[in-house]
Amino acid sequence: MTGTQRNLVPVSLPSGWDSDDKKFDLAHEAMIERMYRDGYVWFKQGSHSAAMRLKELLGESLYVTHVKENTQSKSLLAKKKSLAPHTDHHAVDFILWYVHDHCDKGGETHLYPTKDIVLKRRLRSWAISLECKEHKIFDDDPGVWPVIQHVPTREEKARGPLTLYRGENNGLWYYSFWLANARTERHEKAFKLLQEKIEQTEPLRGHLKKGDIFIFDNRLNLHARTEYFDSKRHLERHWVKAIL
Ligand SMILES: [Fe+2]
Repeated sequence: MTGTQRNLVPVSLPSGWDSDDKKFDLAHEAMIERMYRDGYVWFKQGSHSAAMRLKELLGESLYVTHVKENTQSKSLLAKKKSLAPHTDHHAVDFILWYVHDHCDKGGETHLYPTKDIVLKRRLRSWAISLECKEHKIFDDDPGVWPVIQHVPTREEKARGPLTLYRGENNGLWYYSFWLANARTERHEKAFKLLQEKIEQTEPLRGHLKKGDIFIFDNRLNLHARTEYFDSKRHLERHWVKAIL
């Protein structure tokens, strides 16, 4: 990592925002503004019902997972170990986490806004031809998906964003190094370079707490977490599809 540490910035809302309709409207406004501008929004001290109201406003719910340690599971998600920068499934536009519980030590959240991952023109054009494999979750999943999907033309950018919660972008990402589908040696090299560029990017860091609601754009950020040491960490993860 290079550069100075960058932190995720929570929204300041009046206390009781999650149970008062007028104050809740402030949260909705903040969600529109922050998601559009920053690609994420972090609410401190919310409630599960407020998280579900925000989710309804965000789009269509696709899937819910309880992310916690499970020693019986082989899934990376169910282990305490760190998770390298990645996106979740490409069908997912937004991810909402409601924090049922968290540990004091470790389990730090990292976001890598894809606009901050500097790719030279040559690598960028390679990245567009790269694909990652996918865990087949939805019926029509094709098995592989481009790392950078559809770079908008100047005309498309001029027309503005398609969703209330997503600002201008240079392509939607789908990436995990452990799902890289390197079909040739050149692809392998390009994946290696891409991973290096990601690792050279300084992430935004934050430590979530019990009751927090954290929402981010899954296609405009890679997300990661550091190792944690206490089994009580429990995030309720909602995958949400944008409504266009
Ligand atoms: Fe993830």
